[in-house]
Amino acid sequence: MAEALRVGIAGLGTVGASVGRVLRDKAVELTRQCGRDVIVTAVSARDHKRDRGVDLSSAKWFDDPVKMAQTAEIDVFVELIGGDEGPARSSVKTALEAGRHVVTANKALLAKHGVALAEIAEKKGVLLNYEAAVAGGIPVIKTMREAMAGNSVTRVFGILNGTCNYILTRMEAEGISFDACLKDAQRLGYAEADPTFDIEGHDTAHKLSILTSLAFGTRIAANDIYMEGISNITQADIRAAADLGYRIKLLGVAQRTESGIEQRVHPTMVPTASVIAQVHGVTNAVAIETDILGELLLSGPGAGGNATASAVIGDIADIAKSRPGFQHGPVFGRPAKELKPYKKAQMRSHAGGYFIRLTVHDRIGVFAAIAKRMADNDISLESIVQHAVNGEAAAQKTVILVTHETTEAAVRKAVDGITKDGHLTDKPQVIRIERAG
Ligand SMILES: NC(=O)c1ccc[n+]([C@@H]2O[C@H](COP(=O)([O-])OP(=O)(O)OC[C@H]3O[C@@H](n4cnc5c(N)ncnc54)[C@H](OP(=O)(O)O)[C@@H]3O)[C@@H](O)[C@H]2O)c1
Repeated sequence: MAEALRVGIAGLGTVGASVGRVLRDKAVELTRQCGRDVIVTAVSARDHKRDRGVDLSSAKWFDDPVKMAQTAEIDVFVELIGGDEGPARSSVKTALEAGRHVVTANKALLAKHGVALAEIAEKKGVLLNYEAAVAGGIPVIKTMREAMAGNSVTRVFGILNGTCNYILTRMEAEGISFDACLKDAQRLGYAEADPTFDIEGHDTAHKLSILTSLAFGTRIAANDIYMEGISNITQADIRAAADLGYRIKLLGVAQRTESGIEQRVHPTMVPTASVIAQVHGVTNAVAIETDILGELLLSGPGAGGNATASAVIGDIADIAKSRPGFQHGPVFGRPAKELKPYKKAQMRSHAGGYFIRLTVHDRIGVFAAIAKRMADNDISLESIVQHAVNGEAAAQKTVILVTHETTEAAVRKAVDGITKDGHLTDKPQVIRIERAG
């Protein structure tokens, strides 16, 4: 049998401890599958004394993950610390430069430094595997990079953040407010104490930027993503969406258009009957549309110790199975140096259907004024309905418009016009509608 693959795990938190546990519990099975033993020979975390729920005492302890990345006692450096700078970045860079394979679950690091790290890995002839960095346990990276060779992707979109999907699912199912759902998500450990990163779309954007690079062969451009979170979504939106046959999801969408690539993260209305609309709770899903395959939808657990460990261990097993001297495939599907610059499509040129919810004074002429603003901007309406707020006697009305395909620029101009007309009593709500099968 070939020599054992020696693994060093940096970070023994939710994911790292699960990886350590599964590597021990499934050692016999992994040896059978990989044709060699896979053993943890080194570990690093901050607190040496903390009980990790798994006995890793046979592995050498390192206070400093960079030192562990340099040691000749490991073949694979597994980075499960997190963060786009600091010890995660320096240890991964060190490991690659020292000719060690790297496995990471760190989307923030890849979104910022992925291309530079890929260049080092490719120069050194080692693997940089990151299946767990996007959609946790769902094998979307391998699917896009390996199983879809020859396909040209036209659009990739998905539910990439379990916290947001959990909140939106409960808002719809139980009729409770965003704030109440967020508090529950925090209590159950689905949301961080500071939830901004999740609910304002940053986490989804990081993952999307990696998928965009794989889909379109472009350099990662995580800072060039149009982003709106879910904190402004109200029960009124959820109910109106349901009445119209839609469900609201926070989607990350990357799409090839005539003017470039659109990368956008925002609350989106998808038809209730579509497959992606059936993805509930903390589950993630990724839809990939290509010229040869058509549409593929992958869904499953997007986070959690075991689900994420499953993807990390799949990456480690790929390294264990790789043959010495065999040329590894490029990290982002094309050699990092050949990734094209990202050509951004302006959000103003985005074309699609829109849901617009306006709260207006209940007075004569308002309805006609709104319709005129729409017509002036060449926006054709699929429906326009008006109903009272808080009972028929109220001085306010809600007007809900659904447009046929139009542009973002036209919608913004029309809504700005309506706002200037002075008919609104509250901030207008605009939610994009996404075609989904
Ligand atoms: N949790 C998930 O469901 C999930 C899903 C997908 C991807 N990920 C990614 O996986 C990575 C790890 O996430 P996690 O949830 O497991 O994080 P976590 O529970 O916070 O664990 C982080 C670990 O890193 C260690 N650490 C921090 N600074 C260190 C340093 N300077 N030197 C050595 N070790 C250090 C910590 O040590 P101590 O324990 O001693 O403090 C801890 O064990 C992140 O990149 C995250 O984005 C997580």
